[in-house]
Amino acid sequence: MLILSFESSCDETSVSVTRDGKEVLSNEVLSQIDIFKEYGGVVPEISSREHVKGITLVYKKALEDAGVTIDDIDYIAVTEGPGLIGSLLTGINAAKTVALNENKPLVGVNHLSGHIYAARINHEIKFPCLAVVISGGHTELVVMNEDYDFNKIGSTTDDAVGEVFDKVARILGLPYPGGPLIDKIAKEGKPIYDLPRPMAHSNDYNFSFSGLKSAVSKLIADLEKDGIEYKKEDIAMSFETAVADTLYQKIKKALKEYKVKEIVVVGGSAANSKIRETLSTSFKNIEVTFPQLKYCGDNAAMIGISAYYKIKKGEIDDMSLKASSRLDL
Ligand code: KG4
Ligand code: ZN
Repeated sequence: MLILSFESSCDETSVSVTRDGKEVLSNEVLSQIDIFKEYGGVVPEISSREHVKGITLVYKKALEDAGVTIDDIDYIAVTEGPGLIGSLLTGINAAKTVALNENKPLVGVNHLSGHIYAARINHEIKFPCLAVVISGGHTELVVMNEDYDFNKIGSTTDDAVGEVFDKVARILGLPYPGGPLIDKIAKEGKPIYDLPRPMAHSNDYNFSFSGLKSAVSKLIADLEKDGIEYKKEDIAMSFETAVADTLYQKIKKALKEYKVKEIVVVGGSAANSKIRETLSTSFKNIEVTFPQLKYCGDNAAMIGISAYYKIKKGEIDDMSLKASSRLDL
């Protein structure tokens, strides 16, 4: 089964061709990051316009790279939400146009399920599985007993993991998006500052990261007030260590209640070196999987893989498919 998929929920315009829910034949990603560096974050109106500009080219390139024509495609998949409404609409309109013109069935995909299914690219997931979604907009713990069965057991009560990376980067004077830069400089630093692990031991599976961001801000203010020299690298490493440890504590707690066979850690911040190192070495007798780095951030391949399992469950959409800025799994 060949699926042509579209992703445009935030600042990446992406189109992909995937085969049988595991193989990526092409995955074109046009990023708007360079545009938003000077704004310090995504500007929704500019993002939608950029998607409109780029989507036709990306679509053509994805078919070309895969070595297929539109006639070979069996289904058209598209991210329906959550995300920026104007950005989502560009992908949905493009997908609907192709589906209607070429008479192909249309499948809407939840962006978060897309992130989870990035872990299924060239990899079989063992069920039951615990999915840890850590992206710019979301932080969720999801138990899956089988394919396309999502049971959310916890989420962030304020900032998402990627969001707090971006905010701490701003405090450190680093440009948007801060995650990759904090990751880079932390490699030269040591975790010498003791930062809080908010809610790490609370009696639920929820997270709260905004207190950690405030703690970093206060730490820097205190050091500067006392005239103590500090290295951004050490703050970055101390911060990453606190995030990784908080995730570890919550996952450890979840493993006591949910007997899962595999943990998949997905989303933009699943690219983080410290998080990858901590989570891949902390759990004995349980497989911990991260998508390849290129499938951690937003991309259409993960949407195509996720669509395959939705189709297998017999769930298909039609032209009434709508963009939903807020959409639960
Ligand atoms: O999943 P994603 O591409 O978009 C959303 O669905 O939100 O995630 C983007 C987020 C950004 O906040 C970015 O700073 C973060 O992922 N990120 C990272 C790293 N690379 C990207 N966070 C920590 N370490 C990284 N290496
Ligand atoms: Zn995403």
